[in-house]
Amino acid sequence: MKGNKGRSTLVALGRTKLGLPAVLLSCSLFFLAGFFGSMLFSQDIPVGGVPRERLLEELKEEGEWRAMAYGETGESTISSIPFQVLSLKPRASYFPEFATAEQCQAIIRITKSKLTPSTLALRKGETQESTKGIRTSSGTFISASEDPTGVLGHIERKIARATMIPRDQGESFNVLRYEIGQRYAAHYDAFNPAEYGPQKSQRVASFLLYLSDVEEGGETMFPFENGLNMDIGYDYEKCIGLKVKPRQGDGLLFYSLFVNGTIDPMMQDNKIDNLSI
Ligand SMILES: *[C@@H]1O[C@H](CO)[C@@H](O)[C@H](O)[C@H]1NC(C)=O
Repeated sequence: MKGNKGRSTLVALGRTKLGLPAVLLSCSLFFLAGFFGSMLFSQDIPVGGVPRERLLEELKEEGEWRAMAYGETGESTISSIPFQVLSLKPRASYFPEFATAEQCQAIIRITKSKLTPSTLALRKGETQESTKGIRTSSGTFISASEDPTGVLGHIERKIARATMIPRDQGESFNVLRYEIGQRYAAHYDAFNPAEYGPQKSQRVASFLLYLSDVEEGGETMFPFENGLNMDIGYDYEKCIGLKVKPRQGDGLLFYSLFVNGTIDPMMQDNKIDNLSI
């Protein structure tokens, strides 16, 4: 998501950096105090040690939650989007069944006839010729307002909820088709000013939605997960590191920047082989 206002998100995060952990900590202290307090005064529950498992239990698995008053850009109900943290270094999460098969097919239908060979943002000194073979997919850019079915708008709203980054700070969708043997070699999604020159804004995070299933290959890879392999000459053909296999409808979110706004060097990713739409 590279938005004109990407920087302001970071500034806002930076400002809360000192306040936030403290606020969270005192909230949990209040919670524990309330918990022990109610135990002491309750007749049904004996005073004494609480088994460790119970202390660490989730409060509720499902059921009714009481919603809080919400702001103009907030939501009236409490909802959840299932996800799995794949890694905190770099920050990457997997969102199973983020979109339905019908939604994926609709996106394919509206973009299929528009695909053209993908291009690269060139670094200083690079030319179209010298970068040939790095990104061999075809693709197209499309914004939610250009989609008559409304599916992209729905997906965009859901991404905003999953990332807490407002819709208007996102770029257009880039729909990509990888045929057998096509790839996007190792790259960063953020634009390092040392390589690309001064940047007005920065890509904070990327959200991939896999539109089709593949029999083999097509993984998105993070070769430097938890600082691994960073000191060796990385060979993309070896497929090392954390790999995410595409499944239709699944989402993958990763943050290219640290919370302090600098580029995460572990965030190099690449997409390989047959990821077709
Ligand atoms: C930003 O945060 C990262 C990760 O915590 C840290 O390694 C890096 O040194 C920080 N950079 C600056 C300039 O504070």
